[in-house]
Order: sequence, then C-alpha cells, then structure tokens
Amino acid sequence: MESNPIYQGFELDAETALALLEWQVEMGADEPILEDATDRFELTASKRVEPAPLQMQVQPAAPPPVRDDSAHLDALIAEAEALAASADTLEALAAVQEAYDGIELKKGARNFCFADGNPKARLLLLGEAPGDEEDRQGRPFVGRAGQLLDKMFDAIGLSRSAVDAEKSLYITNVLTWRPPGNRDPSPDEIALSMPFVRRHIELAAPDLIVLMGNIPCQAALGRRGILRLRGTWTEAFGRPALPMTHPAYLLRNPPAKREAWADLLSLSARLSD
Ligand code: URA
Repeated sequence: MESNPIYQGFELDAETALALLEWQVEMGADEPILEDATDRFELTASKRVEPAPLQMQVQPAAPPPVRDDSAHLDALIAEAEALAASADTLEALAAVQEAYDGIELKKGARNFCFADGNPKARLLLLGEAPGDEEDRQGRPFVGRAGQLLDKMFDAIGLSRSAVDAEKSLYITNVLTWRPPGNRDPSPDEIALSMPFVRRHIELAAPDLIVLMGNIPCQAALGRRGILRLRGTWTEAFGRPALPMTHPAYLLRNPPAKREAWADLLSLSARLSD
C-alpha cells in the first residue's frame, strides 16, 4: 500500500499499535467516539478530521453532582422500595426494576443487566456495575474480568452454568445500568439501587455472599478498602459474606491472585461445612 503523506513519520508497527490501543482501553476509552469508524487513509490533508484532544478521549466522565434536592431523592428511593417490595419472584423484580426510571444511568445504557447464573445457587456473587461488554450483552461479568471470574470459580468447582445448586453460582451487581466511562457509581445511584439489591438477595436466598470489590462493600457494609477487608468473613444482608478483590484488579495486579486463591479456598471450605 502506498504510504499516505499525512502519516509520514508516524508509522506504527502492529504490536505497538495494539499496545497503544490496550493502554487506551485500560484508561477507560472503551468505546469509539463516533458512530462509524473513520477511514483516515481515504481522507486528504484538507478533509482530515482532527481527533479530539487525547485527554478528552481517555478521561472517564465525572460522577454527576450530588443532588441537593434530598426530598426528591427520598421520594425516588421510596418509589424503588415500594416497587421492590411488590415483587414476589425474581422475574417480577427484574420487570419492575427495568421499568423504574429513577436512575438517570438508564438513559445512557444500552441494556438492563439483572443477573446471570443459577438463582438456586448456594453462593451469590455481588459485583459493582456493568461495563461495556455487559452493557452490550445485558449480562453481568461477561467481559475480560468476567472471564477471569469464571476461571477462578471453576477452580473450586463452581460455575454459573451448573444446574446443581451446590456447584453453581448466581451473579448480580449493585447497579443494573452501566455508568458512563466505567466511572464509580455515585452515592445517590447506589442508594437508588439498594432497595432492588436487598429484595434480589431476599428472593434468591443464598447461603453465602461474595462482595466483589469496593462498591458492594460500600453498599452492603458502608466501608471501602477492599485490600484490608478481603479475606475476612463478615455479615451482609443478614447472611455470611466474604469480601474479595475484584477480578479487574487481579488483571492489573497478577501477584494479588495469591490472596484471591486463599479467599476462594476459604469460600470452598465454608460451602462444604
Ligand atoms: N465488573 C463488575 O463488577 N460487574 C460486571 O458485571 C462487570 C464488571
């Protein structure tokens, strides 16, 4: 292929281009800015579209400001409580939660991401929020972190596709709608989700819960600091709960897999008690 004069002096080999792309994804730039990809080789120097400044592309969106209208927030939480209480089955809960308009995140998300796995499982895993792939598929933990999660639990004989309650896993998140740019959910967004999370756990009635990462610890225990909390059994939603480091953290910090393995063994021992 003839080299385009625009790119003279900027040629990248495939490996470097891939590394740059991975770095951008790591920084949170996990979706294209434009609807359609631009074929820059087609563009002449005069028609060339200047990309947005790099900082604009990689900065995750800031959380929305905390509402100062606390009466409005209280009313929305009360509405969420009433809807959650009205659901007698997981299917009914999914329907009322999906229809609820109190969480602004709903407007920007592609799909409602309720749960995955076997609702009869003895173990329920509570994660943070859907990411890009989960938002696309409408299922929790199906991206890279989810693949690692499957391998981790597979190592102690648990899988989300198992029919046997003893060998299966049920997975949900604190948030069912993706926060833009994978930012942390705001305290208001967590508060609006919690009536549904509590009812979800009541209806699934697991024996044990894993709190996967900081957000579920913040939501269930009112505490963050997963590196201190992990590995110590506690109680959440009236059930024994084990905080564990999030698989996305383990992908960035492979040495931390050693402690995660110890936590999995502790979980496995508790399940066979
Ligand atoms: N991280 C989470 O906590 N949940 C998901 O569903 C995906 C990534």
